[in-house]
Amino acid sequence: MRIDILTALPRLLDSYFSESILERAQKKGLVEVVVHDLRDFSTDKHKRLDDYAFGGGAGMVMTIEPIHRCIEKLKGERAYDEVIYMSPDGDLLDQPMANRMSSLKNIILLCGHYKGVDERVRQHLITREVSIGNYVLSGGELPAAVLSDSLIRLLPGVLNDETSALSDSFQDGLVAPPVYTRPAEYNGWGIPEVLMSGHEAKIHAWRHEQSVLRTQERRPDLLESFGDG
Ligand code: ADE
Repeated sequence: MRIDILTALPRLLDSYFSESILERAQKKGLVEVVVHDLRDFSTDKHKRLDDYAFGGGAGMVMTIEPIHRCIEKLKGERAYDEVIYMSPDGDLLDQPMANRMSSLKNIILLCGHYKGVDERVRQHLITREVSIGNYVLSGGELPAAVLSDSLIRLLPGVLNDETSALSDSFQDGLVAPPVYTRPAEYNGWGIPEVLMSGHEAKIHAWRHEQSVLRTQERRPDLLESFGDG
Protein backbone atom coordinates (compact mmCIF):
# COMPACT_ATOMS: atom_id res chain seq x y z
CA MET A 1 0.00 0.00 0.00
CA ARG A 2 1.13 3.56 -0.68
CA ILE A 3 -0.27 6.54 1.22
CA ASP A 4 0.48 10.07 0.01
CA ILE A 5 -0.37 12.76 2.55
CA LEU A 6 -0.76 16.36 1.36
CA THR A 7 -0.30 18.98 4.05
CA ALA A 8 0.69 22.57 4.78
CA LEU A 9 2.44 21.36 7.95
CA PRO A 10 4.55 18.30 7.04
CA ARG A 11 6.58 18.37 10.26
CA LEU A 12 3.45 17.58 12.26
CA LEU A 13 3.47 14.13 10.67
CA ASP A 14 7.20 13.32 10.68
CA SER A 15 7.54 11.80 14.12
CA TYR A 16 4.37 9.75 13.95
CA PHE A 17 5.49 7.77 10.93
CA SER A 18 9.12 7.41 12.01
CA GLU A 19 8.52 5.40 15.19
CA SER A 20 7.50 1.93 16.24
CA ILE A 21 5.09 -0.18 14.21
CA LEU A 22 4.64 2.36 11.44
CA GLU A 23 8.36 2.79 10.95
CA ARG A 24 8.91 -0.98 10.88
CA ALA A 25 6.09 -1.46 8.38
CA GLN A 26 7.79 0.99 6.04
CA LYS A 27 11.23 -0.55 6.53
CA LYS A 28 9.80 -3.98 5.72
CA GLY A 29 8.39 -2.50 2.51
CA LEU A 30 4.79 -3.27 3.49
CA VAL A 31 3.69 0.34 3.17
CA GLU A 32 5.11 3.54 1.77
CA VAL A 33 4.00 6.76 3.41
CA VAL A 34 5.04 9.91 1.56
CA VAL A 35 4.31 13.32 3.07
CA HIS A 36 4.11 16.22 0.60
CA ASP A 37 4.53 19.85 1.59
CA LEU A 38 1.85 21.76 -0.33
CA ARG A 39 4.10 24.84 -0.26
CA ASP A 40 6.33 23.08 -2.81
CA PHE A 41 3.39 23.32 -5.23
CA SER A 42 2.54 26.97 -4.63
CA THR A 43 3.27 29.46 -7.39
CA ASP A 44 2.67 32.38 -5.02
CA LYS A 45 5.87 34.33 -4.41
CA HIS A 46 5.34 34.08 -0.65
CA LYS A 47 4.35 30.41 -0.93
CA ARG A 48 0.99 31.17 0.61
CA LEU A 49 -1.55 28.38 0.64
CA ASP A 50 -4.61 30.32 1.81
CA ASP A 51 -6.60 33.41 0.91
CA TYR A 52 -9.64 35.39 2.06
CA ALA A 53 -13.08 33.88 1.51
CA PHE A 54 -15.14 35.40 -1.32
CA GLY A 55 -18.09 37.15 0.23
CA GLY A 56 -16.15 37.95 3.38
CA GLY A 57 -16.28 36.35 6.79
CA ALA A 58 -13.68 35.30 9.28
CA GLY A 59 -11.08 32.68 8.46
CA MET A 60 -8.82 31.89 5.57
CA VAL A 61 -9.54 29.29 2.90
CA MET A 62 -6.97 26.95 1.34
CA THR A 63 -6.54 27.73 -2.34
CA ILE A 64 -7.13 25.13 -5.02
CA GLU A 65 -4.01 25.56 -7.17
CA PRO A 66 -1.25 23.96 -5.02
CA ILE A 67 -3.60 21.09 -4.11
CA HIS A 68 -4.53 20.55 -7.77
CA ARG A 69 -0.90 20.66 -8.91
CA CYS A 70 0.20 18.18 -6.26
CA ILE A 71 -2.64 15.73 -6.98
CA GLU A 72 -2.06 15.97 -10.74
CA LYS A 73 1.64 15.26 -10.33
CA LEU A 74 0.91 12.18 -8.21
CA LYS A 75 -1.80 10.94 -10.56
CA GLY A 76 0.71 11.22 -13.42
CA GLU A 77 2.95 8.76 -11.57
CA ARG A 78 0.43 6.06 -10.58
CA ALA A 79 -3.30 5.33 -10.39
CA TYR A 80 -5.05 6.13 -7.11
CA ASP A 81 -7.99 4.23 -5.65
CA GLU A 82 -9.17 7.16 -3.55
CA VAL A 83 -8.35 10.84 -3.01
CA ILE A 84 -9.58 11.46 0.50
CA TYR A 85 -10.18 14.79 2.19
CA MET A 86 -9.98 14.60 5.99
CA SER A 87 -13.01 16.55 7.17
CA PRO A 88 -15.40 16.56 10.11
CA ASP A 89 -18.22 16.48 7.49
CA GLY A 90 -17.01 13.17 6.07
CA ASP A 91 -18.04 9.54 6.53
CA LEU A 92 -17.25 8.48 10.07
CA LEU A 93 -14.22 6.18 10.32
CA ASP A 94 -14.94 2.87 12.02
CA GLN A 95 -13.36 -0.58 11.96
CA PRO A 96 -15.37 -1.92 8.98
CA MET A 97 -14.33 1.15 6.95
CA ALA A 98 -10.69 0.63 7.93
CA ASN A 99 -10.93 -3.06 7.00
CA ARG A 100 -12.33 -2.23 3.57
CA MET A 101 -9.82 0.54 2.88
CA SER A 102 -6.83 -1.55 3.97
CA SER A 103 -7.06 -3.53 0.74
CA LEU A 104 -6.58 -0.42 -1.44
CA LYS A 105 -3.27 -0.02 -3.23
CA ASN A 106 -2.69 3.73 -3.50
CA ILE A 107 -4.49 6.51 -1.66
CA ILE A 108 -4.05 10.25 -1.25
CA LEU A 109 -5.01 11.94 2.03
CA LEU A 110 -5.52 15.70 1.91
CA CYS A 111 -5.24 17.58 5.20
CA GLY A 112 -7.26 20.76 5.45
CA HIS A 113 -6.46 23.79 7.58
CA TYR A 114 -7.75 27.24 8.32
CA LYS A 115 -11.45 27.52 7.44
CA GLY A 116 -11.26 24.56 5.06
CA VAL A 117 -10.47 24.18 1.37
CA ASP A 118 -11.98 25.93 -1.64
CA GLU A 119 -15.19 24.00 -2.33
CA ARG A 120 -14.02 23.21 -5.88
CA VAL A 121 -11.35 20.91 -4.41
CA ARG A 122 -14.14 18.87 -2.85
CA GLN A 123 -16.26 18.99 -5.99
CA HIS A 124 -13.62 18.09 -8.53
CA LEU A 125 -10.51 16.58 -6.96
CA ILE A 126 -11.70 14.44 -4.07
CA THR A 127 -13.32 11.01 -4.28
CA ARG A 128 -14.45 10.80 -0.64
CA GLU A 129 -14.32 12.58 2.71
CA VAL A 130 -13.52 10.90 6.01
CA SER A 131 -14.07 12.14 9.55
CA ILE A 132 -12.42 10.58 12.60
CA GLY A 133 -15.12 11.76 14.99
CA ASN A 134 -17.78 14.30 15.76
CA TYR A 135 -15.47 17.07 16.92
CA VAL A 136 -13.45 19.68 15.07
CA LEU A 137 -9.64 19.65 15.11
CA SER A 138 -7.46 22.48 13.91
CA GLY A 139 -6.18 20.51 10.93
CA GLY A 140 -6.43 17.25 9.05
CA GLU A 141 -2.96 16.00 10.05
CA LEU A 142 -4.00 14.07 13.16
CA PRO A 143 -7.00 12.59 11.32
CA ALA A 144 -4.71 11.54 8.42
CA ALA A 145 -2.34 9.89 10.91
CA VAL A 146 -5.25 8.14 12.64
CA LEU A 147 -6.68 6.84 9.37
CA SER A 148 -3.23 5.72 8.15
CA ASP A 149 -2.50 3.91 11.41
CA SER A 150 -5.84 2.12 11.33
CA LEU A 151 -5.04 0.85 7.80
CA ILE A 152 -1.35 0.05 8.18
CA ARG A 153 -1.76 -2.17 11.23
CA LEU A 154 -4.16 -4.35 9.22
CA LEU A 155 -1.67 -5.03 6.41
CA PRO A 156 -0.42 -8.63 6.47
CA GLY A 157 2.98 -8.87 8.14
CA VAL A 158 2.84 -5.52 9.94
CA LEU A 159 2.03 -6.91 13.38
CA ASN A 160 4.33 -9.64 14.65
CA ASP A 161 1.47 -11.86 15.71
CA GLU A 162 -0.68 -12.26 12.61
CA THR A 163 -3.76 -12.78 14.72
CA SER A 164 -3.44 -9.73 16.88
CA ALA A 165 -5.13 -7.24 14.53
CA LEU A 166 -7.99 -9.70 14.18
CA SER A 167 -8.41 -9.91 17.95
CA ASP A 168 -8.54 -6.11 18.34
CA SER A 169 -11.57 -4.54 19.90
CA PHE A 170 -14.30 -4.05 17.28
CA GLN A 171 -13.09 -6.73 14.86
CA ASP A 172 -15.83 -9.11 16.00
CA GLY A 173 -18.19 -6.39 17.16
CA LEU A 174 -16.93 -6.76 20.74
CA VAL A 175 -14.48 -4.74 22.84
CA ALA A 176 -11.28 -6.48 23.95
CA PRO A 177 -11.16 -8.53 27.17
CA PRO A 178 -8.91 -7.40 30.06
CA VAL A 179 -5.25 -8.41 29.90
CA TYR A 180 -2.67 -8.81 32.67
CA THR A 181 1.08 -9.30 32.85
CA ARG A 182 3.64 -10.02 35.58
CA PRO A 183 3.67 -9.77 38.51
CA ALA A 184 0.63 -11.97 39.22
CA GLU A 185 0.17 -10.11 42.46
CA TYR A 186 0.95 -6.44 42.93
CA ASN A 187 0.16 -4.41 46.01
CA GLY A 188 -2.30 -7.10 47.08
CA TRP A 189 -4.11 -6.93 43.72
CA GLY A 190 -4.35 -10.32 42.05
CA ILE A 191 -5.42 -11.58 38.66
CA PRO A 192 -8.25 -13.93 37.60
CA GLU A 193 -7.21 -17.49 38.49
CA VAL A 194 -8.27 -18.97 35.17
CA LEU A 195 -5.40 -17.11 33.46
CA MET A 196 -2.89 -19.10 35.53
CA SER A 197 -4.63 -22.45 34.87
CA GLY A 198 -2.83 -23.21 31.62
CA HIS A 199 -6.20 -24.50 30.33
CA GLU A 200 -6.44 -22.97 26.85
CA ALA A 201 -10.11 -23.68 26.21
CA LYS A 202 -11.17 -22.27 29.58
CA ILE A 203 -9.04 -19.16 29.05
CA HIS A 204 -10.54 -18.67 25.61
CA ALA A 205 -14.07 -19.05 26.99
CA TRP A 206 -13.33 -16.63 29.85
CA ARG A 207 -11.94 -14.01 27.45
CA HIS A 208 -14.95 -14.27 25.21
CA GLU A 209 -17.32 -13.97 28.17
CA GLN A 210 -15.42 -10.90 29.42
CA SER A 211 -15.62 -9.32 25.97
CA VAL A 212 -19.36 -9.82 25.83
CA LEU A 213 -19.87 -8.48 29.37
CA ARG A 214 -17.71 -5.44 28.72
CA THR A 215 -19.45 -4.72 25.46
CA GLN A 216 -22.85 -4.94 27.16
CA GLU A 217 -21.66 -2.58 29.90
CA ARG A 218 -19.64 -0.09 27.91
CA ARG A 219 -20.65 -0.24 24.26
CA PRO A 220 -24.13 -1.78 23.88
CA ASP A 221 -24.37 0.15 20.58
CA LEU A 222 -21.77 -2.26 19.11
CA LEU A 223 -23.92 -5.28 19.94
CA GLU A 224 -26.86 -3.69 18.18
CA SER A 225 -24.97 -2.75 15.02
CA PHE A 226 -23.16 -6.10 14.88
CA GLY A 227 -26.49 -7.92 15.24
CA ASP A 228 -27.75 -6.04 12.17
CA GLY A 229 -24.87 -7.57 10.18
N1 ADE B 1 -10.41 17.99 10.36
C1 ADE B 1 -10.81 18.68 11.44
N2 ADE B 1 -11.53 17.93 12.25
C2 ADE B 1 -11.61 16.69 11.69
C3 ADE B 1 -12.22 15.46 12.05
N3 ADE B 1 -12.94 15.34 13.17
N4 ADE B 1 -12.08 14.42 11.22
C4 ADE B 1 -11.37 14.55 10.08
N5 ADE B 1 -10.78 15.67 9.69
C5 ADE B 1 -10.89 16.73 10.47
